[in-house]
Formats: sequence, structure tokens, C-alpha cells
Amino acid sequence: MELKRLLFYVILLFINLIIKVELRQAATDNVVLKSIKGQDGDVIDCVDIYHQPAFDHPLLRDHTIKMVPSYYPEGANDNFDPIIQIWQSKGECPEGTIPIRRTKHGAISIKKKSRNIIRLYFEGSAVSSDAVDEPRHEYAVTQSSTGNYYGAMSTISVWQPYVEGSGEFSLSQIWVAGGSGSNTNTIEVGWIVCPLLYGDNLTRLFIYWTSDNYQNTGCFDLQCSGFVQIDSSMAIGGAITTTNHPEIILLVWKDEDQDVWWLQYNGTVLGYWPTAIFTVLNDTSTLVEWGGEIINSNTNGIHTATDMGSGSFAQAGLGRASYFRNLLVVNDNNTLIPPPTDTFSWASNPTCYNITAGENGDWGNYFYYGGPGRNPNCP
Ligand SMILES: *[C@@H]1O[C@H](CO)[C@@H](O)[C@H](O)[C@H]1NC(C)=O
Ligand SMILES: *[C@@H]1O[C@H](CO)[C@@H](O)[C@H](O)[C@H]1NC(C)=O
Ligand SMILES: *[C@@H]1O[C@H](CO)[C@@H](O)[C@H](O)[C@H]1NC(C)=O
Ligand SMILES: *[C@@H]1O[C@H](CO)[C@@H](O)[C@H](O)[C@H]1NC(C)=O
Ligand SMILES: *[C@@H]1O[C@H](CO)[C@@H](O)[C@H](O)[C@H]1NC(C)=O
Repeated sequence: MELKRLLFYVILLFINLIIKVELRQAATDNVVLKSIKGQDGDVIDCVDIYHQPAFDHPLLRDHTIKMVPSYYPEGANDNFDPIIQIWQSKGECPEGTIPIRRTKHGAISIKKKSRNIIRLYFEGSAVSSDAVDEPRHEYAVTQSSTGNYYGAMSTISVWQPYVEGSGEFSLSQIWVAGGSGSNTNTIEVGWIVCPLLYGDNLTRLFIYWTSDNYQNTGCFDLQCSGFVQIDSSMAIGGAITTTNHPEIILLVWKDEDQDVWWLQYNGTVLGYWPTAIFTVLNDTSTLVEWGGEIINSNTNGIHTATDMGSGSFAQAGLGRASYFRNLLVVNDNNTLIPPPTDTFSWASNPTCYNITAGENGDWGNYFYYGGPGRNPNCP
């Protein structure tokens, strides 16, 4: 009798469990039309474009999705080879869906950093209170901050830098920013190696944004609501191979008719940030930067050996050092032009990572940047 009852309860429990699993499956089936497991270990969910994370944002609940830019900046080009991501060899997402890289459960605490350091440099002081913070963010960048910018563009070489600490990253990106202090707004796009965020050391295409100086808004990739993706071929945060150090061509521009900032990757329009999520970039950008950033977790007072760029210093030059070329900004007349002549380059810790800028006919405004981190002059 007792055994029978026990058996009955066990069976009941099982049925209950099955129903629960089925229900959960049904809920995600509504929005996930297909899942693809890439050979790099990534799982890509093809999510109904109208049910993407962006629409959870309180200001985007009634947002009407934009499927094409109403205009491009003068001088823009989309005649580039589409980027191949590693997972794409295992399948593609159907039309009407967007590929979203599945993240492991649990919040990732890696944050970008308040950019006050930049402002201090801009104001002519090389000493920053950030120097005593740990972990410390270090930069080698070119910056332009003497105009109103409606976008930026560059061709960037792609590498796979060594990242030493699990809480560190090494990235190379364009910043399109505005505002100051706690009102700093940024749009950031480029490539990154970040073991904590992605669970491996592969090079990935990423995006980032904040509208309150990295405090309560914004995130990497599609980890929070804000960026609206329209492209069904590429996953934000997806890995690419870096053999032969390919270039990627990034363009961000403001579409004043649609009130959005568009993002184009090698000729593919990925999607946009609605200006509604910003408090300053709903207007224009006043600071554009191009370059590298790393985290130095600096344990026991020893500098990290995390690479920036290729891991070679700037003067190693073509084939050895990483570079940005054809630096351009979008001006008041919606035209891509070289940045103003008072644009300048700086490195926060030049014995560890440095930068050299130049200009020529083929490459326009360019720079080499990077370094190995820890070395005899950067102990
Ligand atoms: C981006 O386009 C350029 C120009 O067509 C091409 O050389 C490059 O390989 C492309 N990048 C990637 C990662 O495929
Ligand atoms: C990344 O590379 C480091 C150094 O080679 C290694 O110790 C670490 O295990 C790698 N991390 C992952 C997640 O593969
Ligand atoms: C941008 O947003 C802020 C804060 O919501 C607002 O005060 C400002 O007027 C807006 N500017 C433009 C140009 O819409
Ligand atoms: C924009 O175009 C107008 C008319 O062609 C010209 O007068 C003006 O100088 C241009 N402004 C900029 C910032 O290039
Ligand atoms: C970059 O650092 C290396 C190694 O310290 C040095 O040889 C080179 O002159 C530096 N270049 C610049 C532009 O600072």
C-alpha cells in the first residue's frame, strides 16, 4: 500500500516536471525559431525580430522597427566582403529572425569604466585619479573633440591578443560619445577578447553603450535592451577567425529622420541605437575616439602581460602592429571627412602600450598602436 502511494507520488512529480519543461519550451518556441551550435561552442538562437531584447526597454515598447536607413553619409561605401563568423558554418537564421548569441546563465559583472580619465587628458593633465583604482583601464587612442559629430568610420586590423587575467579584456574600438560626468553617453563598437564575458579567448565583434557614464544603463552586445538588430546574418558577440589579421570596416552614423544611430559592419547594416535611450546622444556627439583599451588587474603590483592590439608596440609597423586607418567623422553636412587637425593621440601608460599616428594618400589618417603590457620598462 505504502509503496503504491509512493510510486503514485513519484509519477505525479514526473508528470508535473514534464508539463513545466514543456510550458517553458513553448514560451521560448514562440520567439526562438531555430538554434545553431557553432564549432566554436557558441549557441546561436534565431529570435523573432519583433521579440528581440530591445523591445523590453521601457522607452521602446511602442517602437516601430526601422528596416533600412533613410540615408547614408556622403562618401560611405558598402562594397566590402561580408564578415564570416565561425558559427555560420553550422547554419543560418531564417528571414524575420535575428541571430542572438546565447549567454551563460548569471549576470556578468565585467563593466566598462567611467571615462573621466579621458576628460583629464583632454584638459591637459596626464595625471588621473584612476591611476590608483584597481583594476585599472589603460588606453592608446586618437581622439577628436572639437566639433559636433554625426558619426565616425574606420578600417581596423583584427588580431587575437593574449589576455592574462580572467577578469581582463583587450579591445579595439571606435567611441562615439557626448556629455560629461555622470551624463556621459557612449556608443562603442569594435573587436574584443574577454574570457569572463564570452568563456573563451576568441576575438569577437562587440557593441557597447551607456547613457549614464557606465552606471545603471547600457551593456555589452544584446545583454540588455537598447540596440535594435535588423540583420539576420551576423550575431553580435560572434567570434571570427583572425588568421592573416583581416580588416573590418566600421561605420556609425546618425539618421536624423529616423532618430537613430545606425551601425554598419563591412557593408552590412546590423541595426541601430534609438536616440530615445540617450540623454546627450539624442543630439550630436562631441567626442570621437579610435584605439585600444585593456584592463590591468595588476595583482601584487605586477603589470599584466595582456596584449593590446597585436601585442607589438606601434613602431613595429605593418604586418606586426595593429592599426586603424581611414579615420573619418561625419560632419554637419552629413559628409565623411578626415577628423579636424587638432585631433591628437595619447597612451595612458606608454611604456606598456603606445601609439604613433600618421597620414598618407592610401591610408588617410591612420595610427599603429598596442604593446605587450609587462616588460622590463613596464614591470
Ligand atoms: C571586410 O571587408 C574587407 C574589404 O572587402 C575585406 O578585405 C575583409 O576581409 C572583410 N573583413 C572580414 C572580417 O571578413
Ligand atoms: C585563455 O587563455 C589563458 C592563457 O593562455 C588560459 O589560461 C585560459 O584558460 C584561457 N581561457 C579560456 C576560457 O579558455
Ligand atoms: C535629449 O534628452 C534630454 C534628456 O531627456 C533632453 O533634456 C534634451 O532636450 C534632448 N535633446 C534633444 C535635442 O532632443
Ligand atoms: C556645408 O555645406 C554648405 C553648403 O554647401 C557650406 O556652405 C558649409 O560650409 C558646409 N559646412 C561644413 C561644416 O562643411
Ligand atoms: C613605443 O614603445 C617602444 C618600447 O618602449 C619604444 O621603443 C617606442 O619608441 C615607443 N614609440 C612611441 C611612439 O612612443
